[in-house]
Amino acid sequence: MNNLCVLIMAAGKGTRMKSAAPKVLHKVLDRPIIDYVIRNVLSVGINPENIGVLVGSGGELVQAHLQQEFPDVKILWQHEQLGTGHAVKSAFEWWQSYENLIVLNGDLPLMTSESLKELISCVDKNDCTVITFEAKNPAAYGRIIRKKNSVSIVEFKDASPEQREIHEVNAGCYAFKVKSLSQVINSITNNNSQHEYYITDALALMNEKNFATGAFIMPEEEMQGVNTQSELAEVSRVMREKILSHWLAEGVNILAPESVYIGVDVELAPDVIIMPNVQIWGQSKVGEGSVIGSGSILTNAKIGRNVKIIAYAVIENSELKDNSKAGPFCYIREHSCLESRAFAGKFVELKNSRIGENSKVPHLSYMGDATLGHDVNIGAGSITCNYDGEHKNKTFIGNNCFIGSDTMFVAPVELEDGAATAAGSVITQAVPANSLGVGRARQKNIADWSLRNHNLHHHKEEK
Ligand code: UD1
Ligand code: CA
Repeated sequence: MNNLCVLIMAAGKGTRMKSAAPKVLHKVLDRPIIDYVIRNVLSVGINPENIGVLVGSGGELVQAHLQQEFPDVKILWQHEQLGTGHAVKSAFEWWQSYENLIVLNGDLPLMTSESLKELISCVDKNDCTVITFEAKNPAAYGRIIRKKNSVSIVEFKDASPEQREIHEVNAGCYAFKVKSLSQVINSITNNNSQHEYYITDALALMNEKNFATGAFIMPEEEMQGVNTQSELAEVSRVMREKILSHWLAEGVNILAPESVYIGVDVELAPDVIIMPNVQIWGQSKVGEGSVIGSGSILTNAKIGRNVKIIAYAVIENSELKDNSKAGPFCYIREHSCLESRAFAGKFVELKNSRIGENSKVPHLSYMGDATLGHDVNIGAGSITCNYDGEHKNKTFIGNNCFIGSDTMFVAPVELEDGAATAAGSVITQAVPANSLGVGRARQKNIADWSLRNHNLHHHKEEK
């Protein structure tokens, strides 16, 4: 579709957010507002080269984000933010080579692809088409003035009391014929109560030239703009409910949807069971039959089939393979992996560690930078001492090893297959295959200790 481009306006200050961060980087669930807008445009088949994003206020941050997430989208600068009319005009060099131009406010994360497709289909009909909605509370939105054969927009601050009574408002989505817009864009003035250049004035200017202007209505729910923290919270609520309804329809069992948060990019298989108060974020995936226990927070977690996360597990950038088990109360972080049938239990922290097939770390352990083979059992309270104050060092534990409770692995250190450690050992050297490493002080018993102790006590009292 080389004759059409989409300009997303994201240069505004977002003053009403009362935040240092640029408005379009504020998150709806776990994604910035701007991502939803760009993804919607991509979803209707527009190539990223034909999408331009206007940045300005906080522009370096927005640019850095876009370069990472949407490297092929064109970044356009509006150095001074003098209003939406000025914004569109400042990108003239870019859009003037196309036949049609779609302009979107950058703060409409709930807009659907259906609305966008319909807007695009209007380019053949009118010189300018806008999307509107019936607002329950029209507040500061631009009011839609419909005449017999034309549409125009009056900004709230410039509207008469009668015009302010109008509930049909401008959503901030426009389809222009480039030829027609080019004839009026330079005539937009800032002669209004806000001293801003309004893109909405383009309609009245087009009507003067007898160009065709039109509008169509979409539901308010998807046209809600984000201008305040309260609107951001409202939009997040709508998005959250949409995502939950989707997964319920796909066969996911969610016991208490009102307490569960699932990010937009999460993938869930049928027959996943999600207990109350769970959050699942990022690129997390959960396979068939797995249970995510109460209070668990998963971020970029890859969960296989029939995995049991018992409760209160925090899992980040890690993988739990089929039939593995975790929790309650564990923290599995940064590139860790439970191979199939492995288990990380109560008060266990894993960091950059691989727990081999059918191996168990059941209680009170820290495994950092460790690789465990299959069928290993780690006794309660055992930890890797992986950090020497300068470097992170690795621990290797072979297959079928049996680790006594309270073993300290002073890394770098290695246990060969079938090795064991005595409880309470500080292991500083390699343990060969099938050997027992004992690294603790030998027990010595002091005779008559209680008697002596009693005498001392007695002596004191006599004084
Ligand atoms: C705008 C419309 C209003 C409509 C409402 C819908 C105008 C004049 N008014 O008002 O009719 O009802 O959206 O939500 O357009 N921006 C820039 N550069 C600027 C100014 C704004 O890029 O110089 C961007 C903002 O980042 C934002 C978008 O344009 O994404 C809309 O700006 P905003 O200030 O939110 O306009 P509203 O007052 O909401
Ligand atoms: Ca707005």
